[in-house]
Amino acid sequence: MYKLIDYSHWNLNGKGNNILTQLTPHEIQVWQKALPFQDKRNDKGHAEFVTYFAVNLLKYVKAERGIVVPAAILHDIGWSQMSKEEIAQFYLPNWRDFEPQLRKRHQEEGVNLAGKILDGVNYPQEFIPKILEIISQHDTRQGFLNSEDGIARDADKIWVFSLPCCRLAIRKKRNFNKSIYDQLSEWLSQKGFFYLDISRETAKIEFQNTLNNLDEAQRDYLKNRQKFLNINLLIRT
Ligand SMILES: [Fe+2]
Ligand SMILES: [Fe+2]
Repeated sequence: MYKLIDYSHWNLNGKGNNILTQLTPHEIQVWQKALPFQDKRNDKGHAEFVTYFAVNLLKYVKAERGIVVPAAILHDIGWSQMSKEEIAQFYLPNWRDFEPQLRKRHQEEGVNLAGKILDGVNYPQEFIPKILEIISQHDTRQGFLNSEDGIARDADKIWVFSLPCCRLAIRKKRNFNKSIYDQLSEWLSQKGFFYLDISRETAKIEFQNTLNNLDEAQRDYLKNRQKFLNINLLIRT
């Protein structure tokens, strides 16, 4: 049975305090080498949450841990290799025009840097190509390659339902054409969004956990974006 995150004890600094006891010595080496390159999209805690969810999913499904955990740890380090100008494109009004190219670039850079990190800790050579293959299209691949790819990418998606990610979406006034709550609910029921049913269940449990941990104003914003947009409109006119 999946045990939800206890946010009263979870350290949100993203440095790995919540997961290190669950990692093998070799995985800890990968984590520490990768740490300076993590969470570069202003998403503190992302790598740690994804790794945490990946380790959890491995309890339910047969898959090669030696591939899944490093893929989860390293999947987004490519953002750290991109220029300020490139990242700034995300903040332009027409950011969606740039998004496919930016996603492609962070995957390419991620593969390069992950390869160096894995070689640097003498990671088993047999696993490295499979880890890099997952990273190479983790945001863009249609469907799933295998259970290792499915678990690593499901873990990345469960993050979206976590408390820090929802707070981030509220802070950024994340612009869906519906409320954040409705968008997340849609993903929860969308066929093929997750590889595993247990990932969907985990995301549902964590989404409820997030709602319980948000304050009332944040919850209201999450659910009623339109109401806030109308208020903004009234203030402006
Ligand atoms: Fe990514
Ligand atoms: Fe990610």
